[in-house]
Amino acid sequence: MTAAPSPVRIAPSILSADFAKLGEEVRAIETAGADWVHIDVMDGHYVPNLTIGPAVVKALRPHSTLPFDVHLMISPVDHFLDAFAAAGADIITVHPEAGPHIHRTVQHIKSLGKQAGVSLNPATPAKMLDYLIDDIDLVLIMSVNPGFGGQSFITSQLRKIEAVRKMIDKTGRDIRLEVDGGIDAGTAPLAIAAGADVLVAGTATFKGGPDAYADNIRRLRGA
Ligand code: DX5
Ligand code: ZN
Repeated sequence: MTAAPSPVRIAPSILSADFAKLGEEVRAIETAGADWVHIDVMDGHYVPNLTIGPAVVKALRPHSTLPFDVHLMISPVDHFLDAFAAAGADIITVHPEAGPHIHRTVQHIKSLGKQAGVSLNPATPAKMLDYLIDDIDLVLIMSVNPGFGGQSFITSQLRKIEAVRKMIDKTGRDIRLEVDGGIDAGTAPLAIAAGADVLVAGTATFKGGPDAYADNIRRLRGA
């Protein structure tokens, strides 16, 4: 018997929010029907952009009851895990290329009582997950190269989403399959059909300002 498909969750990336009023923006997307808050952390080293650190995550925490989905694009990553956990992250996602021992990094996140995610860049094969899948709570497929919002969806990643969906189903465990980059009303259905159950969307959520957020999120769900 196949399990009923899980509902699709929408995780707006606050990278495309108005940084001068992040608290308000996070409240607005929660009101508009977002499921998670996706927080892109970049270090200017692992990726060619600099964004926010644990202090901002901590400052945002009182503004939302939604899960904070913290995507770490920083290297080395290990010595920042405790700070992001303490700041209020619920899910902490890391890139295998960002630290020397990804298995140890995953164990560290779990030891902090947080959900652990592993993210695969466009050129990173699904096989990378073979010896991690039994220990993680989420796989994040990058459908753009990490570093910036507003890039175009790389369609070759649909095959990887399908492959990872099969791996996840084989485990029988409750593991989220999240896709990040270039998600809009046109690409969302493709990602969902390939097996994704969480969609990150920055540009497509925040375009048009707060009055448009609810419609933007509805469109991503395919409604
Ligand atoms: C890119 C980030 C994404 C990005 C998505 O490195 O991980 O979360 O903000 O932005 P859009 O939805 O605009 O492609
Ligand atoms: Zn992201």
